[in-house]
Amino acid sequence: MCKPVPISEVFNQPDTDRDVCIRGWVYRTRSSGSIVFSIIRDASGIIQVTVKKGLLPEADFDAAVTASIESSVMVVGKIAEDKRAPGGFEIRASKFKLIGPADPFPITEYQSEELLLDKRHLWIRSREQNAIMKIKATALEGAREWLKENDFVEVTPPIFTTNACEGGVTLFKLDYFGREAYLSQSAQMYLEALIFSLERVWSLTPSFRAEKSRTPRHLTEYWHLELEEAWVENDENMRIQEDLVTAMVEKVLRKRRAELELLKRDIEPLKAVSPPFKRMKYSEVISLLRSKGFDIAYGCDLGAPEERAVTANEYVPIFITNYPKECKAFYMKEDPEDPKTYKCADLLAPEGYGEIIGGSERETDINKLIERLDALSIPRENYEWYLDLRRFGSVPHSGFGLGVERVVRWICGVEHIREVTPFPRTVARIYP
Ligand code: 4AD
Ligand code: MG
Repeated sequence: MCKPVPISEVFNQPDTDRDVCIRGWVYRTRSSGSIVFSIIRDASGIIQVTVKKGLLPEADFDAAVTASIESSVMVVGKIAEDKRAPGGFEIRASKFKLIGPADPFPITEYQSEELLLDKRHLWIRSREQNAIMKIKATALEGAREWLKENDFVEVTPPIFTTNACEGGVTLFKLDYFGREAYLSQSAQMYLEALIFSLERVWSLTPSFRAEKSRTPRHLTEYWHLELEEAWVENDENMRIQEDLVTAMVEKVLRKRRAELELLKRDIEPLKAVSPPFKRMKYSEVISLLRSKGFDIAYGCDLGAPEERAVTANEYVPIFITNYPKECKAFYMKEDPEDPKTYKCADLLAPEGYGEIIGGSERETDINKLIERLDALSIPRENYEWYLDLRRFGSVPHSGFGLGVERVVRWICGVEHIREVTPFPRTVARIYP
């Protein structure tokens, strides 16, 4: 057998004189008498293989007949133009080996969402899932490149913690050798500690939220890309966010056109993404929402319907700044120009997708932090180490957390967040 090549390479260099070898899985197959048309897929794409009795050993022809959907196979043959084949080329087989036969595949066309989730370990082979996973990897690659160019140091914070960074309601509690501990909701506090050594840091970790709500944008376990920056105030924090998000979108547009097309994603809105992003104050958003007929009180956090209304007709993400203190976490910096609010910003993705980033400048006044912990009846012991950061050479600093699946959901233009993670964890799902 010759050296196997990725299927995409066959299309890139359709040299019709040479034998090519591919290996992959049967995506579709039909046979009639002395001919088998088998569509083979590998990580890179699909191609039609035509197998004609008499043009290859008898055993190979039989293998092609028996190779049912999702059997793994190896094929050698010559490339030929064929207008009817997907992509305009096919392979005319001179060898066809069955590597791993497949039982009847449980996923056929038009399956219920439930079945696709039960069979997720098999459904991730679908072309849509393949495209989404590539786009996710490329978006992260774009982020990593940007972080490297901008002198951020990658760090590795813990997942077991005794801190409730984002409040008690969504904590996953666990028994840590007899002590109560939690799965991390955010690496933020650890990143804050690390800036006193490294100044500009980032981490990519799973974060956990015991979200009981079943929504198309909440997972109980998601990937969290977090940055923390010494000597940075909230305005610059927002500039960092718009540059980072733009780098992620641009990388996907440059490298993943075919995948976006497969997902039928309209790329015109994505092409419009470039800094500066629009900034609106929370109070302006409340007025806007009321003018659109929302019955919303000042002080309420924005939910999905409100965020959808604000972003539905936009192509570029929008920052919402200056949330009132009562709807945000205790560690944010009070805005001296508007002390009812924090120097914070949520970044909302356009086209209705809503929040993709939560960020803020951090409170440096230790007394304010202590007051807020007391007001929330949070025992101070677990936060002494965090308060130490204000006792030893405190500096102005800011940071943010980007929900990777939220961003990929928007870039891919898919409705439900579970589609952008291979093994989604939701209230109802922990298998497979
Ligand atoms: O807004 P959040 O809760 O902010 C924080 O955790 C900060 N401590 C981050 C920081 O400043 N370092 O979460 C940040 C982002 C959200 O904007 C959203 O994109 C994502 O994390 N996120 C979720 N994604 C999927 N499922 C969930 N249940 C999520 N909860 C938050
Ligand atoms: Mg948030």
